[in-house]
Amino acid sequence: MNISNRARNIPPSSTLAITAQVRAMKAEGKDVIGFGAGEPDFTTPALICEAAAKALSGGMTHYVPTPGTPEAREAVAAKLREENGIDCTADHICINNGAKFTVFLALQALLDPGDEVVLPTPAWVSYKPMIELAGGVMVEVATDASSDFKMTPEQLEQAITSDTKVLLLNSPSNPCGTMYSQDEVRGLVAVLERHPHVVVVSDEIYERLVYGDEPNLSMGSLASMRDRVVTINGLSKAFAMTGWRIGYACAPGGDGALIKAMNKLQSQMTSSITSFTMPAVVAALTEGRAEVEGMRQIFAGRAKRIHELVSAWDGVVCPEPTGAFYIFPDISCSFGRTSPGGIRIESALDFASALLDETGVAVVPGNDFLGPGAKHVRMSFATSEDLILEGCRRMEDWLGQLSACEQVASG
Ligand SMILES: Cc1ncc(COP(=O)(O)O)c(C=O)c1O
Repeated sequence: MNISNRARNIPPSSTLAITAQVRAMKAEGKDVIGFGAGEPDFTTPALICEAAAKALSGGMTHYVPTPGTPEAREAVAAKLREENGIDCTADHICINNGAKFTVFLALQALLDPGDEVVLPTPAWVSYKPMIELAGGVMVEVATDASSDFKMTPEQLEQAITSDTKVLLLNSPSNPCGTMYSQDEVRGLVAVLERHPHVVVVSDEIYERLVYGDEPNLSMGSLASMRDRVVTINGLSKAFAMTGWRIGYACAPGGDGALIKAMNKLQSQMTSSITSFTMPAVVAALTEGRAEVEGMRQIFAGRAKRIHELVSAWDGVVCPEPTGAFYIFPDISCSFGRTSPGGIRIESALDFASALLDETGVAVVPGNDFLGPGAKHVRMSFATSEDLILEGCRRMEDWLGQLSACEQVASG
């Protein structure tokens, strides 16, 4: 079988690979603590499940319009108007099979071969393959912990060329767990106003899961940017609905021209999302706020706790998470040392692999997140506080033994 270059060259998702490995180890009866999975440990709120169950038993089992039912699109538009301040209507919305596919469709609809996409890194593992699948050229803007992994307006200015088509922004960030403040968003907008040819794809999937003083500022709510921002969001993270596969885009520019293009692509690929989830979209967005807030408060407590634990490790540096459910420590203090099991650690990949083998704790090596990611591991705190405590205890013991090995080796 001759596999296409396109399929051969694309790497598998390293985050999904770790999740699958943890699942397999647990199935073998191994004692594993997973900090790998990027999904809430909660189950979907009952009111949302009931809306889907009612639609299913009521016979809502036929094809629905490609971009979603009028009611679901209106519920998304109303949410974006009321909560995010984006001036939009249902015609500016499309609903897709998870925000991952929404990002993919947006890039397919925007990019021609050779178009440049500015991507601040470390960034979510799927962006680079998606840019490349659309024929785009990634222009990486590397950030580090000194700016809480945020691109400065100066860096953005330098990265933009006449070939720039898209700025792909993700705040709050996977994998960094940090987010742009409202002033920082305005600072980037001041640069973008000087470059009207750049479209912003703003992935705000973690927008409800924020732990600082300020809410997320959607760039698409600023009047000067309304017509050239595609706001992407979904139900996976805030509503604990990862398995449902529901994402959406809002792009009011050109009276929804991009949405029409995305609909055309989707109509040839998946038609629509599953019919009987449509009423669940309406229920989640209109009646689910209290449920989201309850989960957010639990995540906020965990963010603080895991940061206290990780910051206490000798030589390990990391900013406090202010959004999403990830902490992204710099573990390069372990490089050049030998693990208790005899593995010499030279990269985050070695670190994660030795840690999993020797302690049963799974973290995601940062290599695939680009930028300085190879010095970091991503730990998801979408898991119970007891598991966070136990996992961090095992990591601290292991790191302590690492230091002891080095002293013996060098002494
Ligand atoms: C930054 C970011 N965007 C999009 C997604 C995709 O979410 P969905 O489950 O809706 O496809 C994820 C999931 O991990 C993510 O981290």
